[in-house]
Amino acid sequence: MSNTILVGAQWGDEGKGKIIDVLTEVADVVVRTQGGNNAGHTVHINGQKFILHLVPSGILRKNKVCVIGNGVVVDPVSLVEELKDLSNLGIKIKGNLHLSETAHLVLPYHRELDSQRERAKGKNKIGTTKRGIGPAYADKAARTGLRVLDLIQPERFKAKLAERIRENNGILKAFGAEPLSFKKVHDQYRAAGDYLKPFVTNTVILLHAAAQRGDNILFEGAQGTFLDIDHGTYPFVTSSNTTAGGACTGSGVPPHRIDRVVGVMKAYTTRVGEGPLPSENAEIADMLHAMGREFGATTGRPRRCGWFDAVATRHARIVSGIDELAVTNLDGLDSVQTLKICTGYRDGRKRLDYIPSDVEALARCEPIYTELAGWMAPTDQATKWKELPRRARDYLHTIADLTGAKLKIVSVGPGREQTIFVE
Ligand code: GDP
Ligand code: IMO
Ligand code: MG
Repeated sequence: MSNTILVGAQWGDEGKGKIIDVLTEVADVVVRTQGGNNAGHTVHINGQKFILHLVPSGILRKNKVCVIGNGVVVDPVSLVEELKDLSNLGIKIKGNLHLSETAHLVLPYHRELDSQRERAKGKNKIGTTKRGIGPAYADKAARTGLRVLDLIQPERFKAKLAERIRENNGILKAFGAEPLSFKKVHDQYRAAGDYLKPFVTNTVILLHAAAQRGDNILFEGAQGTFLDIDHGTYPFVTSSNTTAGGACTGSGVPPHRIDRVVGVMKAYTTRVGEGPLPSENAEIADMLHAMGREFGATTGRPRRCGWFDAVATRHARIVSGIDELAVTNLDGLDSVQTLKICTGYRDGRKRLDYIPSDVEALARCEPIYTELAGWMAPTDQATKWKELPRRARDYLHTIADLTGAKLKIVSVGPGREQTIFVE
């Protein structure tokens, strides 16, 4: 298969989990490299639904090496819960999962600060998942973070945690929030540390050895291009690099080892949380929500929905070097009579064919649409390209061409088998 980075080409929740599961069949190693348990990756196998938050989706296939890389921020208590849940469902973890010793920790003060800052922002809030992701990455950048290797050394953890709780309780007090109890946090997190210790390793060396052996490595992106801290709709973004570069820094695997980048995108657009979404459309949202679709996998919030935005996906292709596309949720458009595709933006009298850097300019942009006739037929039973209605194939070719990458995979349902490989 070669070494493949998979990224979300929109605002997250593109169906990355499902496509990772499909691609894992021919992978040896699956690595998460950024983000934390703000991610929610859904995989359906034989009618059973799994939602992964920190653990690479590859864990659901037998004997795949799964790595939580150095770039991920790990809430140890949440990870232990996830591992226990997976074990209870019969998934083998021991021997298959490896946790980077240099991954930074998410601690209760990060979660509390995330909530307090959102509350203080009022109507200007980001709409975060309140998992403490922003404050954890802020500590990492400020060089005040605690890492997995601190967690598994009791004396060191105790001393560092005490100092961090002291400082953060001061900040929480300024927000009018309750201070945290050192003992409570310490005991809970140390217990998680003991549970996780057998999984902790130097994942940079592990991945280097895998690359030397010629193993196929699959990098499981979390979030999406427009949530990237550098390339997204700042400040309405997450706090990591969700674009392809993040996979290298977050794993220690160098760029020249990467053979291809796959971009995952829905056949339409969704976003959860605040921030501009030029092609947002209430009718599409109502239709999808009425079908029971497009509710967040992590927070359960209804996702905002809109038409396919080719200006956005073209930008995603540029910043991640997307070679191949996986288009998911085609079946969501089965009953739409006339489909719109956003091909440009209008900002006052100016026509733009790229995403403006200033989020206020983006919020002003009006989408320019091209229209295509819908196929008005179910696609969820199709297993081959030829079995898709001609108009569906036209639509797929149009969005892939506008994005500027090769259409490789089409997904017509959440199940593994509902996947079409485009020759
Ligand atoms: P991720 O975060 O990118 O992994 O995506 P999520 O799991 O958060 O959200 C994608 C949703 O779409 C999940 O509920 C998937 O089960 C579902 N899904 C993925 N591909 C398809 C598809 O082709 N058709 C349908 N109906 N659902 C899909
Ligand atoms: P997956 O991997 C969709 C969004 C939040 C919010 C912003 C910042 O499942 O695609 P954060 O908690 O990260 O500080 O929130 O980013 N967000 C996601 N949206 N999918 C995700 O992950 C997301 N992770 C974060 O809704 O707008
Ligand atoms: Mg998701």
